[in-house]
Amino acid sequence: MKKRIGVLLSGRGSNFEALAESAAAGRIPNAEIAIVVSNRENAPGIERARARETEALVIPSKGLEREAYDRLVAAALEEKKVDLVCLAGYMRLLSPYFVAAFRNRILNIHPSLLPAFPGLEAQRQALEHGAKFSGCTVHFVDENLDAGPIVLQAVVPIKDDDTPETLSERILREEHRIYTEAVRIVLEGRYRIENRRVMILPEKVSEKR
Ligand code: GRF
Repeated sequence: MKKRIGVLLSGRGSNFEALAESAAAGRIPNAEIAIVVSNRENAPGIERARARETEALVIPSKGLEREAYDRLVAAALEEKKVDLVCLAGYMRLLSPYFVAAFRNRILNIHPSLLPAFPGLEAQRQALEHGAKFSGCTVHFVDENLDAGPIVLQAVVPIKDDDTPETLSERILREEHRIYTEAVRIVLEGRYRIENRRVMILPEKVSEKR
């Protein structure tokens, strides 16, 4: 049976697309995107999912309490028997209910080297701070913003003439690469968590690429 990934997004959907392509190409072996859920009706990521013939659901959050909303999303993911939830530009904090329902089975990608520059516009924050390096982080998700145990990071040097746009573009390329790699590691169960540290275990010889 293929492992089933559920993607939550609110916008563009390039990380969704990278994961979908990686699964289709076998870079994430034995896995598929079972469903994409967006809280925003006009998210381009929804169109991208439909263009790939991936089931895509809009669940508007307007007027709902955080937990009531998360119960709807969790039910949609559970109905699809999702093994792993990947946040990909999902602009909502998860409720304790949702985190408990998928404990250690939720990943997020963030465009900075956490714990530096959590929250919105992380690339602009890094530039304005004068950092010489930034990058991206894939981490497990807990109730706090951009805070759970870190699975993988990639470093991107900041150039003197970078703008938020040029830096974001270079970071995004690394995001797509490490998200694929992290999902592969997690779905293969090739890690161990000690306190906050995620130890990546070596690939079995038979799994080596
Ligand atoms: C990415 O930069 C991701 O790190 C952040 O939101 C952005 C989403 O981009 N969490 P996309 O929708 O995947 O193209």
